[in-house]
Amino acid sequence: MSASSDSPLVPEWLVVPDDANALAAQVWPRSAHRAASGELVLGGVAASDLHAQFGTPLYVLDEDEVRARARGARAAFDDAAARHGTTAHVYYAGKAFLSADVVRWVTGEGLAVDVATGGELAVALAGGADPARIGFHGNNKSVAEIARAIEVGVGSIILDSDIEIERVAAEAARRGIRQSVRLRVNSGVHAETHDFLATAHEDQKFGIALARAEEVVARIRELPSLDFGGLHCHIGSQIFGVDGFRESAARLLDVHERLLAGGPVPVLNLGGGFGIAYTSVDTPTPIEELAEGIVDAVATECARRGIPVPALAFEPGRAIVGTAGVTLYEVGTTKPVQATDALTRLYVSVDGGMSDNARPALYGAQYSARIASRVSDAAPALARVVGRHCESGDIVVDAEYLPGDVAPGDLLAVPATGAYCFSLASNYNYAPRLPVVAVSGGEARVIVRGETIDDLLARDLGVHRPTPEASA
Ligand code: LLP
Repeated sequence: MSASSDSPLVPEWLVVPDDANALAAQVWPRSAHRAASGELVLGGVAASDLHAQFGTPLYVLDEDEVRARARGARAAFDDAAARHGTTAHVYYAGKAFLSADVVRWVTGEGLAVDVATGGELAVALAGGADPARIGFHGNNKSVAEIARAIEVGVGSIILDSDIEIERVAAEAARRGIRQSVRLRVNSGVHAETHDFLATAHEDQKFGIALARAEEVVARIRELPSLDFGGLHCHIGSQIFGVDGFRESAARLLDVHERLLAGGPVPVLNLGGGFGIAYTSVDTPTPIEELAEGIVDAVATECARRGIPVPALAFEPGRAIVGTAGVTLYEVGTTKPVQATDALTRLYVSVDGGMSDNARPALYGAQYSARIASRVSDAAPALARVVGRHCESGDIVVDAEYLPGDVAPGDLLAVPATGAYCFSLASNYNYAPRLPVVAVSGGEARVIVRGETIDDLLARDLGVHRPTPEASA
């Protein structure tokens, strides 16, 4: 089918494709296909129409894909939990991508919402999320954020430190409210990408060491304004297997069991982190399989301890929105670069970059790309898609085979950009942040408008201050 390359410029996993126009199913929304003309169609809308209506660079979000994945996650965890006589709550982790419409879509499909700041809370409420079905995270929530969460009736506040326990208790007591809380613990399991490593003492900022959990929960239970709802942990992101979750659940359940002696422990929240495909060689575990594997593991651990299976909670973000998003760029320049004496790499510069997708620069994340405006018979060339920012690390797609005739004016689509691209976007080099367009059933509509240069100038008060000459 395809050949590996011995070139040192080509990552080991990247193979020369038979067809550099092909759309690898796992990285695109299900609606993605090529029209008879060859151009890419997303949610029934052709790339050229998106370009004509909204310009580039542009985030495109496939509403049906978000909804299907939200529905799928909910059904997967519901079914897995029901087989063990319990229930599962699926919170959408809003940090992956949050806008009022996305909140409407995921809550419409039955998901609760997890927020991590007062800003995310405001968007969740603006999107009509039921406050009782919001979980509020963060290792340093401000007193104002805590107060707001309590006042609007947030269903659970996830406590992260001893200091925060007292703060939340005081704010709830002041308002005569008994606030439901969960305790974030550090299970010592940290899952990283395809692997996980377990360490006894993890050197990171989140949660409370599992070894201290009993003492800390005892304090929570002493405080009449707090209602202890169970333990929470989140072991990491972009996890492909069940092992890390199983290990973490086992460790949490040891403590959970001991806590049962002192009162109810209604929920066990195992966080998010379910991986998605970014390139054609990624093979994430389907959510149904993950859900079944994790819930079965929890049930086995509970049976071993002779305790009832608690209600479970999960917080997928990337797995809901990641594959639903595609970023559309226009190629501005191409440049063959002699990378070594013998080897050339084609640099393809697009009109966005690290300001709309920081993940390659931040994490060395790999992506794939396709020409969106046409198909081409030209032989595949090893390309690197780069942005327009003033850094050599401004890479959008580190390594990809694109048709060798890729040229200025071509539209380029980068799939699997629905999670942590919009939410990590910056104004580096005074680049206005991109609009987000939702596509569904042949219709496209802006759900977050793009910034303008005027928006950016409006914040710079020096621009608006009259000059001495003007006021003289
Ligand atoms: N729950 C908690 C408590 C979290 O901290 C996170 C992610 C999630 C759920 C959702 O994780 P997901 O299912 O989306 O993997 N910016 C990084 C990811 C940071 C994730 C932070 N926490 C990236 O772009 O890969």
